[in-house]
Formats: sequence, C-alpha cells, structure tokens
Amino acid sequence: MFDKIEDLISEVSRFKADTKDQLEEFRIRFLSKKGHLAELFSEMKNVVPEQRKNFGLKVNELKNKAEEKLQLYTEVFSETEGVSDKSIDLTLPGEPMLSGSRHPVSIVRNKIVDIFNKIGYTVAEGPEIEDDWHNFTALNFPPEHPARDMQDTFFMDDEWGSALRTHTSSVQVRVMQSSKPPIRVVAPGRVYRNEAISARAHCLFHQVEGLYIDENVSFADLKQTLLYFAKEMFGEQSVIRLRPSYFPFTEPSAEMDVSCNICGGKGCNVCKYTGWLEIMGCGMVDPNVLENCGIDSKKYSGFAFGMGVERIAMLNYTIKDLRLYFENDIRFLEQFRGQ
Ligand code: DAH
Repeated sequence: MFDKIEDLISEVSRFKADTKDQLEEFRIRFLSKKGHLAELFSEMKNVVPEQRKNFGLKVNELKNKAEEKLQLYTEVFSETEGVSDKSIDLTLPGEPMLSGSRHPVSIVRNKIVDIFNKIGYTVAEGPEIEDDWHNFTALNFPPEHPARDMQDTFFMDDEWGSALRTHTSSVQVRVMQSSKPPIRVVAPGRVYRNEAISARAHCLFHQVEGLYIDENVSFADLKQTLLYFAKEMFGEQSVIRLRPSYFPFTEPSAEMDVSCNICGGKGCNVCKYTGWLEIMGCGMVDPNVLENCGIDSKKYSGFAFGMGVERIAMLNYTIKDLRLYFENDIRFLEQFRGQ
C-alpha cells in the first residue's frame, strides 16, 4: 500500500501537461471523486491503527503535490490562453526596448544637490502648501511690504492665509526652527507664482535654496562657496561677480552672475552681449530672521542663497523656452537620454 502511494507521488512529480486535455485527465485521475486520492482516503479505515498516522501523512503529501501541479498548469494555460502557437513567429527580431530618460530639471537639480553634498550640505524639505508665516512673515516681509505683491502668490481660501509657496526660502525657516547650528542644508523643491505662462515665465518652477548658519560665518564664506559652486557646475574656467541687491530676509543682499560659459565672457545672444549670466540671489541672513526662528543672532550668523533650476538648465543646455519643461514632448525629453 505504501509502495503504491510512493509510486503515485513520483508519478505526480514527473507529470507535465502539454495540453489542457492532459491536465484535465490528470485532475480526474488524481483529484476527482473517483480518483486515486478519494480512493486512498476511503481506504484509511482499513489501515491497521499503528500505521494509520503514517498512511494519512503520505496521502496528504500526495494530495498537496497533485494540487500544486494542477494549480501550476492551470496558471500556465490561463496565461497563454488566446495565443495560438501559429500566431508567434519566434524568428522575428524583438521590439527594441527604449529606455527612459531623466528630465533635464531632475538632472540639474541632482547635480546642484551633489555639488553641495560634497561640502557637507544635507537635503531639507518642506511643504508646498505653506502658511503666511513661513513663506513671508518669518522671512522679514512686513504685512504691507510690496515684496508680497511682487511674489504674485496663489493664495488658498482658508483661515491661515495658506498659499502655494512662492520660494523655497520657506524651508530655511522650518530648518532653523527645528535644528540647532551649525546648519548646512540645501532645499530643492517646486515653487509656484501666479504668472502668465510664456517662454520666460511659468506658474510652476523649481528652486534650490541653500542655508549655512554657524558662529563667525562671513560674506567671504558665502562668496567662496558660490565660486566653488560655479566652477563645479559650469566648469573650472568660470568666474563670478556679486551685485548689490535687495531681499527682505538677507542683509546685505546680492545677486550672483557667472561668466557666460557659451561665449566665455566675450558676449553672445545668450548673455545678451554682457558676458555674464544671472544665476541666483544670496546674502547674509538678516538677524531678524534668525531671531524669528529662535536662533541667537548675537552668537550666530549665516548666509543663504536661492537659485532657479530651470534657469540653470536653460543655460546648460541652451533651452530657449520654459514651456518645454512641462509639455512632456518626447522629442524634447529624449535628448537627455543617458545623462
Ligand atoms: N527667495 C528668492 C526668490 O525666490 C531667492 C533668494 C534670494 C533666496 C536670496 C535666498 C537669498 O536664500 O538669500 O527670488
């Protein structure tokens, strides 16, 4: 009796179905009401009590194996259903598999983040829906300050004056509130402005914000950091210049230009014949901002900077129209394959 079960187990193990009919035959032979298993179970009562347990175990082993086989081939046949062998010509060459490509904004954002990672900056993130305090007030924009207008904001209709953040500077505030100096972070992310969409403006774009707070941080540190960035990003030959500017959250504030990497500073239509390209805003964090965020402005100082990712990608790849970034036209995107 035990030998018979062993034989059946090995028969099940060897079983292969080429057709559905063979599988059905198998099911009937083993698993139907009149099949081997039903028969073996009904013989259970005739087995001497000492052997009954082992007998039960063996029969169950056979049952499990038979059911597994049935399930396996049922799946195989259901997957290939509808594909008759004649419809497949295995001699035809395969369809080429096109690999995707990274979006230029992602490529440039990753590069910026990598450059700052190398000098110890970590990545910080914040919400895209911000409250008024983090987007404006903590950054030293007084309630009636014209800069709030300047930023042409998408406001939400709620009691906290929430808005889609207009810049990643709001992440500075969150980082200062939640950590202690020394602080060294870059904050990449999406920002929104209520602008009419054109080749030079969009309502959605990306920025990378940088923030460095410690004791004795000076404007010279800022300048050196930005020079390092420009050389890494645009090449060793790059030089920078800082022009005085104004932002509510930095004092002094500056705008940074990098020498045009297309004409090498001689003047071309990309740099509008100035030899310089405007890259970012920057400055020393205003002591009011430090205090608003709970950092002792007598002990600590710091610098911040913010740049537009689309703008840098435009310069890197000579892209002339901002709208291309968001249209997902494959002819545009596939040019960045492999980068
Ligand atoms: N938030 C500014 C903007 O969106 C960019 C900026 C300027 C960020 C100066 C800074 C900074 O951190 O110091 O135009």
